[in-house]
Amino acid sequence: MCGIAGYVGGAEAAPILVRSLKRLEYRGYDSAGVATIHNKQVFVCKDAGKIDEINKSLGLERLPGCVGIAHTRWATHGAPSKVNAHPHLDCTGRIAVVHNGVIENFLLLRKELIDQNHNIVSKTDTEVVPHLIEEHIKRGLSFEEAFVQALKRLEGSYALAVIFLDQPDTIYVARKEAPLIIGVGEGFNMVASDMTALLDMTRDMVFLHDGDAAVVKADGYRIFRLSDGTQVERMVRRVELTIEMAEKQGHPHYMLKEIFEQPTALRDSLRIQREYVDLLAELLDKGRVIFLLGAGTSHNACVAGSYLFSALARLPSYPVIASEFVANYGGAVGSDTVILAVSQSGETADVLNALEYARMRACTILGLTNTVGSTLTRVSRAYVLQNSGPEIGVAATKTFTSQVLVLAQIALRLARLRGKIAQYEMDEFRQELLKIPNEVEKVLTTASVKMRALAEILVEKPFIFMLGRGVSTSTAYEGRLKVMELSYIPCVAYPSGESKHGPISVIESGVPVIFVVPPDEFRKPNIGNIMEMKARGAYVIVFGDEKDDELRSIADFYYGLPRTHPLLTPITYSIPFQLLAYHLSVLKGYDPDKPRNLAKSVTVP
Ligand code: M6R
Repeated sequence: MCGIAGYVGGAEAAPILVRSLKRLEYRGYDSAGVATIHNKQVFVCKDAGKIDEINKSLGLERLPGCVGIAHTRWATHGAPSKVNAHPHLDCTGRIAVVHNGVIENFLLLRKELIDQNHNIVSKTDTEVVPHLIEEHIKRGLSFEEAFVQALKRLEGSYALAVIFLDQPDTIYVARKEAPLIIGVGEGFNMVASDMTALLDMTRDMVFLHDGDAAVVKADGYRIFRLSDGTQVERMVRRVELTIEMAEKQGHPHYMLKEIFEQPTALRDSLRIQREYVDLLAELLDKGRVIFLLGAGTSHNACVAGSYLFSALARLPSYPVIASEFVANYGGAVGSDTVILAVSQSGETADVLNALEYARMRACTILGLTNTVGSTLTRVSRAYVLQNSGPEIGVAATKTFTSQVLVLAQIALRLARLRGKIAQYEMDEFRQELLKIPNEVEKVLTTASVKMRALAEILVEKPFIFMLGRGVSTSTAYEGRLKVMELSYIPCVAYPSGESKHGPISVIESGVPVIFVVPPDEFRKPNIGNIMEMKARGAYVIVFGDEKDDELRSIADFYYGLPRTHPLLTPITYSIPFQLLAYHLSVLKGYDPDKPRNLAKSVTVP
C-alpha cells in the first residue's frame, strides 16, 4: 500500500504536496518523492527514508511549480531505495508517474520495453508505465490517447497520477482496485489516495469509481471511462469528518479499519509474484524435514499452513513456535532441513534467533513477510511478500488472513509440483482461492452486528473456550489470541477431540464454548463434542455454515458463514473472532489499537 497525491492550481504545489504526504504516511513510509513542472522543466526529488528526513536533507517542498505529483511508498517490488522511490520517469524525462497498487504483468511489459530500447532503471513494477506512455506517443498518439492505451496494457491494480512536460497545467489520473479521490477547490484541484491528504485544502470531494480516468486542471476536471472513453459525471460530496476520523476512514479505531480492508488486502495477496511462489515451493519440496516457524498470530498461520501442505501436497511439515525451535528441534536439524519463517514484521527477535541458529547448521531458510527490506528478507534464501500493506493496530488481523492465503497459494503450487492429488481438485481449490476476497466481503456485511451482540453476552465471563478440528484448530488458536489480547479475558483453545482429555473438567453451567464447525469431514465428531459440552451446561456458541440448520438448532448462539473450501475457512472464520475481540475490548473500555503490555513488533527475545 502506498499513498499518492497531486496538485494543480495557482499556488506552489510542493509544500501542499508534502503536507498531503505527511497525512498519507500511515499508508507507507519507506521512501517518498515529489515531481513538479516549472519553466519547461520536470523537477524530481525523491529518496529512501521518512518524509520529514527527505524534506530536511533534499528540500522536497522547495521544488518550484504550480503543478505536481507526490508519493509515499510501502515497497512491494524492489527494496526501499532512491532509484525505486516514485515518481518514475520515461526515457526523455518528460513524463512523471506515481502509483499505488501492483502491476501483475510488469515483467512481461518490462521485457518488451527493454527490447524496444527503453532504459528502465528501477526494480519497480511502476516504471513500465511512463515508458509505455512514451512508446505510444512515439507512435503518434496524443498524450491522452497514449495514457489510455498504456493503461489498457496493465493487469493488476492501480491508482495513478501522471504529469507531462508539454501539458504543464494538467494531471492525468486513473484508478482500478485502488482508491483515488479528486479534491475540488477554488482555483485549484487536487487528487489523492484518501480524504486525509485533501482535508487541509478542501472538503469537497469526488470519489472516482473503478475504471474511471480523469483529466484534472486548476479550473475543472473531466472524468471518463477507461474502457470506452465515455464521459461520466460523479457527484461532489462535502466531507464533514475530522482529519483523525478520516485517517481511520470513518472507523473509530485502526483495528476496525484494518478488519474491513481485508477484501482489498486479500486481493493484493493474490497478486504476489508467481516466480517466488514457484521458487519457495521447489525449495520446500527438496527438504527432508520441513518446519513452519512463527510467533503469535504468524505461528497460528503456520498451523493452518501445515494442514494445507499436507492435505493438498501430501507434504508433512511441523508448525513450530519460534521461541521453542532451538530447544525442541535444535539438535535434529541440518542441511536437509527447510524452514519457512512467517513474520509480518520480519523483525521478531524469537524468529530471527531461531533462524540464526538454523543458518549456522546449514538449513535452507525461506521467508513469508509483509515487510520489504526486513531482516527476514535478508536472511532468507528466497522469500515472498504477502502484500497486505501497513497494519497499525497491534492486533494482527488482515495480516493473518493474508498469510494464510499466501500459504494456500504455496500449498497449491506444491500440489502441482508433487502431483499427489487429482487435477480437478487443484482446479477447484484455485477457483475457491480466487473467490476468497468476495467471501470475506460477504462475512463483513453481517459479522460486526452479530459479534457486538455476542460480546454483550460474553463481556462479564471469567473465561472462554475455543474448539475446532483439523484446519479449524488454527482458527480456534487465532480466535483465542485475538480475544485474549484485546479483552484480557483468559481463553483456552484446543483441538475439539482433545477437550475430553482434561479441559472439559472446567465446564459447568454457563461456561462459554465457541466451536468452529465449517462443513468439512469433522462436522459429525464436532457435533459429538458439542453435545458433551451441552450435557455439562456449557453455553455453546457455534460458527458454522449459514445453511446448516441442524447445527443452528443445537447452538445457544449461532453465527452462519458463507461456504468456502474447508481448507480456506481459517480466513473467513477468523473474522468473527476479530470482531468479537474488538467489541469486547470496546465494551470493556479498552483501546483495541493498543492492548496493554504489547508492542507491534517484538524485537527482544
Ligand atoms: O511480526 P510478526 O508476525 O513476527 O509478529 C509475531 C507476533 O508478535 C504477532 O503476530 C502478535 O502475536 C500479534 N500482533 C497478535 O495479534
